[in-house]
Amino acid sequence: MRSHLAAIALLFPLAGCGQSMDHQPRYDTNSTADIFPNGASAQQPPEGTVPQSALAYQQALADPPPVTEALLQRGKERYGIFCAPCHGFDGDGDGIVVKRGFPAPPSYHSDALIEAPASHFLDVMKNGYGVMYSYADRVAPGDRWAIVAYIRALQLSKHASLADAQAAGVRLQ
Ligand code: HEC
Repeated sequence: MRSHLAAIALLFPLAGCGQSMDHQPRYDTNSTADIFPNGASAQQPPEGTVPQSALAYQQALADPPPVTEALLQRGKERYGIFCAPCHGFDGDGDGIVVKRGFPAPPSYHSDALIEAPASHFLDVMKNGYGVMYSYADRVAPGDRWAIVAYIRALQLSKHASLADAQAAGVRLQ
């Protein structure tokens, strides 16, 4: 038994020969790399990658984009994917995940959240809030504006007066 162990102990240094950790094949950043079609070691991130740098956040979140139909449509789509599972399609805080037992979020139609500035929604998406985890790695900064715009539309829709509906051109025929 002892001689077996001695033999194994002797084999280990031999197995390590020629595999110095100091000299491993690797590419330097921004060097050439034959294995990629464009020959560069630093590849472009895949489409849809959410930038995580402080600068990328600052740039994307500095100014609100103009509210257009396209922005609202994008917000509706992203909201349906990322927020509705808990906040519900109407924003009442009764999404399917909540019906399965996750703590219920507050309704977007509370006075506090109607009065909350857009920055509050942006902050919550970036940093999370209480038991709600952060969406920083899933919702691109530009899409966060789209989601806030859509939440604002949801809030308006629940609080529209008859006069608002008439002004918006709601017709029955
Ligand atoms: C997994 C469920 C879940 C998802 C998905 C989710 N939330 Fe939440 N959210 C919560 C819960 C629960 C709370 C309340 C947390 C607490 O008070 O501890 C909350 C709180 C919030 C608040 C703060 C409310 C306040 O009182 O100020 C905002 C704003 C919010 N969510 C926005 C969003 C947006 C926007 C999305 C989509 C990008 C989203 N949430 C996705 C569960 C979720």
